[in-house]
Amino acid sequence: MTSDTKKKRVVSGMRPTGRLHIGHYFGALQNWVRLQNDPEYDCFYFIADWHALTTHYAEDTRLVPQNTIEIATDWLASGLDPEKSILFVQSQIPEHAELHVLLSMVTPLEWLERVPTYKDQIQQLAERDLSTYGFLGYPLLQAADVVIYSGEGKELFVPVGEDQVPHIELGREIVRRFNFHFGFNVNLADCNENALEYVGSKVFARYKEPWPGAKALSASQISELGMLCTLYAKEIGYANFLHEMGEYAGQFRFVDQLTEPAAMLTKTPRFPGLDGRRMAKSYGNAIWLNETDEEIRKKTKVMVTDPARKRRTDPGNPDVCPVYDWHKLFSPSETLEWAARGCRTAGIGCIECKAAMADNLIQWIAPIRERRLEYEKHPARVLEIIDAGSKTARRHAQETMARVREAVFGWEKKRKEVASGEWRVAR
Ligand code: TRP
Ligand code: SF4
Repeated sequence: MTSDTKKKRVVSGMRPTGRLHIGHYFGALQNWVRLQNDPEYDCFYFIADWHALTTHYAEDTRLVPQNTIEIATDWLASGLDPEKSILFVQSQIPEHAELHVLLSMVTPLEWLERVPTYKDQIQQLAERDLSTYGFLGYPLLQAADVVIYSGEGKELFVPVGEDQVPHIELGREIVRRFNFHFGFNVNLADCNENALEYVGSKVFARYKEPWPGAKALSASQISELGMLCTLYAKEIGYANFLHEMGEYAGQFRFVDQLTEPAAMLTKTPRFPGLDGRRMAKSYGNAIWLNETDEEIRKKTKVMVTDPARKRRTDPGNPDVCPVYDWHKLFSPSETLEWAARGCRTAGIGCIECKAAMADNLIQWIAPIRERRLEYEKHPARVLEIIDAGSKTARRHAQETMARVREAVFGWEKKRKEVASGEWRVAR
């Protein structure tokens, strides 16, 4: 649990694609752990199971919970700590979906269509039919995922990769638009007659309605006047409107309902897969977080090296060698120097170089793998952790939704009016 006293919130999600490899660790998790341990931030990390459906709805979606537990297990193994971060599952927080619906009302289709990943992914995943509403709305759901954790005086940060930045940008634009439409608050209920007279005559005149005078106004007419004020303010702009309301501007308030999120780009180390390409399950070039020593040795033995170093006697260039990229993450500086110098002078062979790197990788992975194996034995514990995290996250999400719902519909206000007996159906 977090203290929730901090001014900065971090929100990020991961799709439940299955077990995680060391590429995920250096690409995201390492940074997530760092943020969790930074006293400036409260962290919200979730598994985006609805997002998995946007591209994989046609496959066996009942694998999603299994994959979710696998990822949560890898998170815990990597050092994410439920005492420090809120770890949860997106679909356990239906408020994400509710906010998504509300955001969708103010989101122009073109904004979604022009997100670069939209057309890219449709091309890349040509074997799937992605001409769906859910897929188009993917970045909007992502925006809802984040801004549902808006809180008064809290900044929102989203650590993501470069490819996700347009999604965050879109989120900012939508929040701005949402706030414009639903951030305006009119309070005429406790106005004195002078105020009502001033505001009412001005606003009614604009809409060429005969002004009945402040004395004769019923509660429902006051509420109608409030709506006209909102309309007026949107038409001429809030600042102009407040100016025009002069000394009665205090009856109107503009409150941002949602917070604009900011992308947090952190430099991640260059970390290719065993074959030099991007590390990915489908390429078979990954090391898993629970990989055995034997597997690590076996896999790293056949790792791609500097392609120009064909013979043992050829000097090599560590700067273009994936093995050296890995050394930089796992090996102490003496080993790094030894590898770089030995490589450039042909003083060492690639076999030795890889073996030294593998030793250090094995040392690095040991505590992570140990925790992985421990949690693997106790999936109920993992489930308990994400269920508890989901409960906590939901409390925050419900708080936001109560406020946002009221800003959109004002049901609570309406109920009070009805209960007070002052309200009647308009004729
Ligand atoms: N779209 C992200 C990805 O594919 C996952 C994601 C979903 C996410 N919702 C989010 C990331 C909210 C950050 C914030 O990796
Ligand atoms: Fe790569 Fe090491 Fe071989 Fe140089 S000696 S090419 S750094 S594996």
